[in-house]
Amino acid sequence: MTATAIAPVASTPVTGPAPGVPRMLTGDRPTGRLHLGHYAGSLANRIRLHRRYESFFIIADLHMLTTKNSPEDIAQIGRHAADMVLDSLAAGLDPAHSVFYLQSGVPEVAELSLLLSSLVTVPRLQRIPSLKEMGQHAGQREMPLALLGYPVLQAADILAVQAAAVPVGRDNAAHVEVAREMARRFNRRVEVAREMARRFNRRYGPVFTVPALVPADVPVLPGTDGNAKMSKSLGNAIYLSDPPDEVAAKVRRMYTDPARTRAGVPGTVEANPVFVYHDAFNDRPAEVAGLKERYRAGKVGDAEVKEKLTAALNRFLDPIRERRAALAADHGLVEELIVTGTERTRHEVKRTVADMRAAMGLTAALAGFRAAARARGR
Ligand code: TRP
Repeated sequence: MTATAIAPVASTPVTGPAPGVPRMLTGDRPTGRLHLGHYAGSLANRIRLHRRYESFFIIADLHMLTTKNSPEDIAQIGRHAADMVLDSLAAGLDPAHSVFYLQSGVPEVAELSLLLSSLVTVPRLQRIPSLKEMGQHAGQREMPLALLGYPVLQAADILAVQAAAVPVGRDNAAHVEVAREMARRFNRRVEVAREMARRFNRRYGPVFTVPALVPADVPVLPGTDGNAKMSKSLGNAIYLSDPPDEVAAKVRRMYTDPARTRAGVPGTVEANPVFVYHDAFNDRPAEVAGLKERYRAGKVGDAEVKEKLTAALNRFLDPIRERRAALAADHGLVEELIVTGTERTRHEVKRTVADMRAAMGLTAALAGFRAAARARGR
């Protein structure tokens, strides 16, 4: 063995986890405007948490490609990304505490993902139920390689920015678990190389922060049609940017207790979407309690329950719509945030990739070749 081959750590020092304020990473695939389901399921939690961290928000367009990759889908990424950032800011994310970035603008995560892919097995990924569901949902009979690699790419996102906290919903929890395993495995494997390096090098810190899953076991909001989940593809969503009359129209058409053919028939409140929304968004709990009592006793019509829900939703959405309009009037603002956020993130990720390559010894081999080539030239 040559000196080049055994030198496990290259001249680039391993800087280890980024110091300072712990980082948070979360985000979404760019599929469209945000709705009340996003708010209840993740946005409210993000707004609550984000000032405690240096917060990164990924616009995961490369992840979107694992199930949606037609030229038409890809052409929408820009508009959807801008809408999502606008919605998030309007709902309360503070741009001074938030780094928004476009995943495909940080191509180094692809290298990170590749380097990490030797730390996980195919059966391990095949056991993740959400991936199979996503494949079926996308109309795929067989698992695309990219979709199987979804959690590996997500692990790359997380480890690339040294995120300490990853607040995600239940559907993403298994992916974050893969990221945790990979961080531990990588750090442990590198530990062997470091033992050797220690003899002639100063002590290096481990490369990756092992991220913590921040379980956001928040309620899944049902759709206006009574379906268990509010979703754009089901056409049962109320958007944060819907104007007041549209909210009213959607609420008027909402599914309620089907057994209630008249106002006089006692109704069921539990799992009734109209009351689920009242519970989630009405800022007047006494009003909600009163409506529930009368509904159970068959003493209130659906029309009144819905009118009060429309009023409550519009009280909630008014300030969001106002902020959204003001932000949108500042042309280029959202775009600028995404551009600077992407540059900022890319800088961090390049550093992580360099640390990773150095710790693995990949830098050393090429450095050795360069030295030998240079010596020959003399
Ligand atoms: N998987 C997330 C989704 O369901 C998006 C995502 C990609 C993500 N990379 C991430 C979330 C890193 C948290 C951390 O859309």
